[in-house]
Amino acid sequence: MIRGKRILLIISGGIAAYKALDLIRRLRERGVLVRCIMTRSATEFVTPLAVGALAGERAYVDLFSLSDESEIGHIRLAREADLVVVAPATANLLARMATGLADDLASTVLLATDRPILVAPAMNVQMWLHPATRANVATLAARGVSMVGPNEGPMAEAETGPGRMAEPLEIVAAIEAKLGCGPLEGRTALVTSGPTHEPIDPVRYIANRSSGKQGHAIAAALARLGARTVLVTGPTAEPVPPGVTAVPVETARDMLAACQAALPVDIVVCAAAVADWRVGDRAEQKLKKGGEGPPQLTLVENPDILATLSAPSPHRPALVVGFAAETEKVLEHAAAKRARKGCDWILANDVSPGTGTFGGDTNTVHLVTAEGSETWPTMSKRDVGDRLARRIADHFGSAQ
Ligand code: CTP
Repeated sequence: MIRGKRILLIISGGIAAYKALDLIRRLRERGVLVRCIMTRSATEFVTPLAVGALAGERAYVDLFSLSDESEIGHIRLAREADLVVVAPATANLLARMATGLADDLASTVLLATDRPILVAPAMNVQMWLHPATRANVATLAARGVSMVGPNEGPMAEAETGPGRMAEPLEIVAAIEAKLGCGPLEGRTALVTSGPTHEPIDPVRYIANRSSGKQGHAIAAALARLGARTVLVTGPTAEPVPPGVTAVPVETARDMLAACQAALPVDIVVCAAAVADWRVGDRAEQKLKKGGEGPPQLTLVENPDILATLSAPSPHRPALVVGFAAETEKVLEHAAAKRARKGCDWILANDVSPGTGTFGGDTNTVHLVTAEGSETWPTMSKRDVGDRLARRIADHFGSAQ
């Protein structure tokens, strides 16, 4: 529940500051306690009076205002919130945050706080794309600062591209996710993602074309809805989604061990493209071309992680979801796979060459449950993740 949480909202000076007024209203409607700090330039766009009236408490502007210091003090301001939100965050304020400057109340509080920070950048497209801003954003992300937006679209200067501040409701959703306040709050989830690499010798391995995009998107979506999410992932280039705990693994057997170590959980989604086979007699030294012809590789079957986690046990997760990667008779094979592996739901997708599913950004899936199947329209992998997470939340909501 977001009700009763305390947000310290820092408003910096850009035209998007007017949207901060709506953000305050949306947060107050949800029972959030909002305390506001404005930079000097923010006061050129909206007045401290308007901000204070909506927040129900005066807005703080000056570092050296005696009354501020005697009433509350900047260290208390920095520490008393559950979350610090910077919206809008200008290029200037992001740069000051990245370099650790403390030359006004906003930047001093940002340096002094030990609370999590969420920023909603808003600036001109070229400023957002400038290498200096890119570097500042990367520095802040590496320090655990979360970001919502910026969005693409028309901007005040009649340019288009990334730079528009996220809409107030998007910022509210990001705040809920950062505070773990979604419909899956209190639930735990385990997601497998990516390929596995099965060594042949110290330098070669068997792998597959899985990018990890779908599994990572599902983990991100579950975390956004508040589930405490562990992502056991084979080698991929995908970044770890915010709020998700990643456990990197290489082989199918490592993946199974990492999953078992994450139990008990409420929800499991097995999206990894686990290699079915590994080389049984893996060479200790690099295989050499020699006079004896090509090496003979003996393949041994890998453990089935989905089937293992679905097996009846006192700690079986309440909901186990698998994927079925098929190239023909997709629904028929998926229904058979659901029964064979003992999972509750299967998301079936066609991975034939030409569909672009492997490595691509979109996916066309069918959800197969005990009740039957439904076909979802082709959508981005992010949207598949969101729809599945919503569906899982509804499942737990109706099961209560
Ligand atoms: N899976 C798993 N462990 C394995 C193999 C597959 O956990 N050793 C999971 C996948 O993560 C996916 C589901 O099982 O959720 C189905 O994967 P898929 O590759 O479609 O099926 P396979 O079990 O490999 O069956 P087949 O190759 O015969 O279609």
